[in-house]
Amino acid sequence: MDHETLGYETLGECLAQQGISRRAFLKFCTAMATLMALPPGSAAAIAEALIKAKRPSVIWLSFQECTGCTESLTRSHTPTLESLIFDMISLDYHHTLQAASGYGAEKSREDAMQKFFGKYLLVVDGSVPVKDGGIYSTIAGRTNLDLLQEAAKGAAAIIAVGSCASFGGIPNAKPNPTGAVPVSELIKDKPIINISGCPPIPAVIAGVLAHYLTFGELPELDDLGRPKSFYGETIHDRCYRRPFYDQGKFAKSFDDEGARNGWCLFELGCKGPTTHNACATTKWNGGTSFPIESGHGCLGCSEPLFWDAGSFYTPLSAPTANIESIAAGSAVVGAGIAVALSVADRAKKRRAQQAHEKLTVKEL
Ligand code: SF4
Ligand code: SF4
Ligand code: F3S
Repeated sequence: MDHETLGYETLGECLAQQGISRRAFLKFCTAMATLMALPPGSAAAIAEALIKAKRPSVIWLSFQECTGCTESLTRSHTPTLESLIFDMISLDYHHTLQAASGYGAEKSREDAMQKFFGKYLLVVDGSVPVKDGGIYSTIAGRTNLDLLQEAAKGAAAIIAVGSCASFGGIPNAKPNPTGAVPVSELIKDKPIINISGCPPIPAVIAGVLAHYLTFGELPELDDLGRPKSFYGETIHDRCYRRPFYDQGKFAKSFDDEGARNGWCLFELGCKGPTTHNACATTKWNGGTSFPIESGHGCLGCSEPLFWDAGSFYTPLSAPTANIESIAAGSAVVGAGIAVALSVADRAKKRRAQQAHEKLTVKEL
């Protein structure tokens, strides 16, 4: 991306206008570097690059969705890491957040697409209904399908925010009456990054934007198009209840003694062992908590087809009490395989993770 050719002020200028201190900004960059598992010392380079970067024009299209993804991003405490997302970009169209409506709103989208053709970022939340010509979801009289295809033409890259845009999500669940599909099924000629989750973690969206502005390209992706730095490990890999799993201590109901003692929720259907996301370390609401810490198992919301995968309260498979025996190569099935593979990977990432745990987003 050519920072010099984008039309808005630099991020540094914008932060100064907002009264955000250099100290807070450097903490943000440190948090970003750690979240992205970049080498020590990267924070300064990120800060330097971001300060000079021109804020990219962003067109945000919301299709067949519940507004949860936007709520996730906007309902955060301030000042937080998440709030800086909006300082990093120039949000030129977002029909939920913008003040303009009707003709004026659509004109701002068209103007931004024309002025920044080939350079703007296209963010999409929600799936795209394609059945019956896409008539089941329209904006300003045009189908989501039509709007997506038009906006994708001039986009430098597309960020699919949430499991609906990434994998089809709940609209795509059986019987999928509207023929809902993810963005990647319709657009094949643009870089697409999937930030899955229902909704996704705001800090992950910030991390992807920071990476794009710093390096001019999308971060490394996994085989489902998600940034590896955030989706490289399972919830189970980093879960604070993991010692109970390893000891074979499982809550049998949501109000038994095991539940009160904070034991593992595997037998209550937790999908943490097969779910890739950063909830267990990044957490939610300014680093306050995440579903398992609130007493409920992970639903697997950042994985494809999570809604159709079976009951949220049915265990994945028989739990294995001794993780070391799994790692040593004993016969395992289902979730146990994912667990064994993650053991080898965990030590590698532990250092960066520990640094992150010390630096919570609350510090901003
Ligand atoms: Fe709503 Fe979840 Fe879809 Fe986001 S991913 S729009 S939160 S249903
Ligand atoms: Fe945590 Fe769930 Fe794994 Fe238990 S099964 S350790 S609750 S992620
Ligand atoms: Fe979703 Fe599981 Fe995180 S349900 S919010 S991926 S803990």
